[in-house]
Amino acid sequence: MKTKTRRQNPPRRREDAKKDKTEIISKTSGPFNVMKIRKDFPVLKLKVHGKPLVYLDNAATTQKPLAVIETLDNYYRKQNANIHRGVHFLSEQATQVYEGVRTKVQKFINAADSKEIIFTQGTTEGINLVAQTWGRANLKPGDEVLITGMEHHSNIVPWQMVCDEKGAKLKVIPITDEGDLDLKNISDLLNPKTKMLALTQVSNALGTINPVAELIRLAHEKGAKVLVDGAQAVLHMTVDVQALDCDFYAFSGHKLYGPTGIGVLYGKYALLDAMPPYQGGGDMIASVTFEKTLYKKPPHKFEAGTPAIAEVIGLGTALDYVSHIGLSVIAAHEETLLAYGTKVLKQVPGLTLIGTSAHKAGVLSFTLGEIHPHDLGTILDQGGVAIRAGHHCAQPVMDRYGISATARASLALYNTTQDLDALVIGLHKALELFG
Ligand SMILES: Cc1ncc(COP(=O)(O)O)c(C=O)c1O
Repeated sequence: MKTKTRRQNPPRRREDAKKDKTEIISKTSGPFNVMKIRKDFPVLKLKVHGKPLVYLDNAATTQKPLAVIETLDNYYRKQNANIHRGVHFLSEQATQVYEGVRTKVQKFINAADSKEIIFTQGTTEGINLVAQTWGRANLKPGDEVLITGMEHHSNIVPWQMVCDEKGAKLKVIPITDEGDLDLKNISDLLNPKTKMLALTQVSNALGTINPVAELIRLAHEKGAKVLVDGAQAVLHMTVDVQALDCDFYAFSGHKLYGPTGIGVLYGKYALLDAMPPYQGGGDMIASVTFEKTLYKKPPHKFEAGTPAIAEVIGLGTALDYVSHIGLSVIAAHEETLLAYGTKVLKQVPGLTLIGTSAHKAGVLSFTLGEIHPHDLGTILDQGGVAIRAGHHCAQPVMDRYGISATARASLALYNTTQDLDALVIGLHKALELFG
């Protein structure tokens, strides 16, 4: 299989972009205007070390629009109550808003039913939930779990843990020098012993957009289930879980302009229904006696205890916010920025881009000569430019390229070409300092 197959969910479709642009014109009486968008994000007015903040650490977490901040404020001022159990006005209202967000998420990722949406703490918890419930119930000695060489630790370690426990084997799809999946041996790697393929849609360390739809099809042909880590995808592209036909899809609210501490796990209903619960406690039971407990049906079976109510409601506002702008419009803006950023970074002497796939979204990972990425991060910070330096919770990716760390600039809808110019100015300063 060639690595340059067309990706599902390309960052931009011309007709969609046009349609969304028209929508934006009618809704905000002007085309996508990044300067106007920036006004929605209070933190972008900050000065850091006396310089205007240039925030390029979006793959770690995105900034929050005022609408999300106000939703949280409003919730605690006027709506705070525990959900599902109360008979009083506030509790009923909070329950209704909370459950309304489930439907919003369902529509956002085009799930068939809102019962397929489980609220979690984030991507990490979603993957652990699947590994600990589906994995423990279904894996046996000799089975294989296939991941890729570009996974975040949160899509490696949970599988290692359950494989160790169940005597299953963890296999890895290697990556090419450019940062694409090397699919030469995919027919060996994906075989009848493979019970789960768990892979990221967009790599946080390289920016590569993986051909997930194609791999899901191949995995299903072998009888394997597929979990997609969408942590770095949902903010850059439209996700349609039914079109992808994935069995599970996990993402985090805080990377999608929403609050921290909230995430989503999508699962096909029949699978969720057959899985044992993850945690025991209040709200996930139908009845309890000392002899026997009966569980609720999904999704509540998987939501033990008081959930992150305010954060769920805040996530709902974040989804409204991005949906109103249009993900294909956001993707088009980011695609322009990525092309500009790639061009200007390539002109910096001694800079090596790590991750040069033809299919990328939102991430510019690089090294600069012998300068340690942490030193680069510190020098850039002095100029108000926030980037990330390190292994990005993807140590196997660093090992693949024989490095210990990269500097990573990552993009969001409020970034501008001026932000990337500020990054380049900072890199030239680092070059001067380190001679
Ligand atoms: C690709 C990917 N997967 C999973 C995660 C984990 O997300 P969280 O820490 O929000 O659970 C991240 C976070 O950076 C990520 O980039």
